[in-house]
Amino acid sequence: MADERDEIRSRIDIVELVGQSVPLKKAGKSWKGLCPFHADKNPSFSVDPISGTYRCWSCGEHGDIFTWVMKTRHLEFFEALQFLAEQAGVTLTSRGPTTTKSDKVRWGAAMQDALDFFREQLAKSESALAYCTRRGLSPEVLSQWEIGYAPDVGEALASYLKRKGHSLAECKELFLVDEDSSGGYFDKFRGRLIFPIRNEGGDLIAFGGRLLGDGHPKYINSGDTPLYRKSRVLYGMNRAKDTLGREKRAVLVEGYLDVIACHQAGVKGALASLGTALTEDHARLLKRWCEQVVILYDSDAAGQKAADRAVEILREAGLRTRIALMPAGEDPDTLLKTAGPAAVQQAVETGLRPLDYRIRKLRASMSPDQDEFWVAAVEALATATNEMELEKFAGELAPLYPGSRGLHATQNALKADAIRLARQTRGQRLGQESSPGRPVGAGISEMHVLEIAILACLFDGPMRQPAWAACAEEGLFFTAAGVAAAAAVRLAYPEEPPVGKPATWLPYIEPESVREAIIAARSDSRLGPYSSGRDFSGFDLTACLQDALAGLRKLRRKRELQQRIGSPPDDKARKELLEKLKQRHSGDNPEA
Ligand code: UTP
Ligand code: MN
Repeated sequence: MADERDEIRSRIDIVELVGQSVPLKKAGKSWKGLCPFHADKNPSFSVDPISGTYRCWSCGEHGDIFTWVMKTRHLEFFEALQFLAEQAGVTLTSRGPTTTKSDKVRWGAAMQDALDFFREQLAKSESALAYCTRRGLSPEVLSQWEIGYAPDVGEALASYLKRKGHSLAECKELFLVDEDSSGGYFDKFRGRLIFPIRNEGGDLIAFGGRLLGDGHPKYINSGDTPLYRKSRVLYGMNRAKDTLGREKRAVLVEGYLDVIACHQAGVKGALASLGTALTEDHARLLKRWCEQVVILYDSDAAGQKAADRAVEILREAGLRTRIALMPAGEDPDTLLKTAGPAAVQQAVETGLRPLDYRIRKLRASMSPDQDEFWVAAVEALATATNEMELEKFAGELAPLYPGSRGLHATQNALKADAIRLARQTRGQRLGQESSPGRPVGAGISEMHVLEIAILACLFDGPMRQPAWAACAEEGLFFTAAGVAAAAAVRLAYPEEPPVGKPATWLPYIEPESVREAIIAARSDSRLGPYSSGRDFSGFDLTACLQDALAGLRKLRRKRELQQRIGSPPDDKARKELLEKLKQRHSGDNPEA
């Protein structure tokens, strides 16, 4: 693969590649232009044909032909490799699908012919058109979303595809037809309204079909085919992607008609997973386009459970989430009809942070007189994504606490419990601690605080070299992804002048979740001189660095030891917490 990569690199002229979307002017050995990654007034973006790299001297964005294609086309590395291989005329032998171009062309043609057929059939079917009218699907919507109809006849599509010269055996692979015991072919979709499914690039890859009336199953969707893997595709991606790129926010709904209704209501970042729960692949796809996802699921038990799970998956992928459940019994499609577009927009805008949502649900389902309420409350607080959030919700819960202790003391006790619980449970997953989406606030470990201190040294001119040398020498690595990413950004610019104040470098930290993590961590009082708003220039950085390194070493040893001994299981942590809460309420002993 390395050979192929070099081959591609040697065949593609980076100036030409970048020049396709950014006007460039020759300036000495390199080429200059306005940076496409930030609002650039002077040309601070330069492309160097000799090293095959680009770099913005203002915002710091940099890379080679592969990162360029990944960033500008929102592709993952392997896809970018494929894209460039095709441009360079290099055949990839190593990894990846072995489909040839002609397969894809044939499959695409069969799919397109099927779609043409379904659309013609809709125009001819009175009952299907009547159903569309009943569902509020106007002729414009039908044409925008290319909706069609599969007639309730055994082999209408099969004979159409055959007439068009397609191999029915191949159409079977595409989930268009199936084979009966006598070797004949019949249609997979019969008597159903058809929703074509396109990927983000607009290729037609699958279909979904809804029965016109009641019956089972209500929907069928293409199974996995050579063109389609349902765990990787979100319905509506081809139409939502421009909005996602602009607003950095997606709205996740449950069904085809919900996606369509959202678009009609002006919520144009709407997407749905198809006949499957949200997967990690979906989350990764979303992450390439946006930073936040609003989950707009049904408010029934199943919808709530699916929303909880989606929050977890999205958070793991480093996306921020909001939960916006529908009023009982509604989905976006019905809400649009009963309450109008503003109601749909409002539902999206009033999405709650997951912690807020969790606490509301708790308050609605249990009484604060129960100990279990407080165990659940502390468990919820332990998922806070930053100190401010923890503070806020501990403050909101404190007045509900039984007994006569002062509000402030109660709030602090809840915070302390949550932080302790977060550490206890998270300590067990130490090895995986570096996902940027993981909670940091309550969970900003001392370790991370120290890492941030080292990072601060890295960002300061004179201290950068010794700081880095010290880290490298000790084989120190950063466990907080935010810190690691920021350190990488900083270290990529060895020649640049010192940038002491965080305000000068924080804005360049991407993605936003990492930036937020650093901001949250920096507001931790344990950071001392490095806490936010301060200028580092007056501090003894050498001493700070030594302290931080020493502290980090000590903590690591302690953690290693703990890991070896084995941390207490979740259950135990829970029991302890419950015991302590009981004691606290009965004896009202002042909080430690
Ligand atoms: P719902 O049952 O909530 O249906 O399924 P809906 O989207 O509101 O559809 P209408 O309004 O009754 O027509 C949500 C989604 O789950 C998938 C479909 O993608 C559907 O849009 N689903 C549902 C299936 O794949 N198969 C089924 O049998 C049912
Ligand atoms: Mn519906």
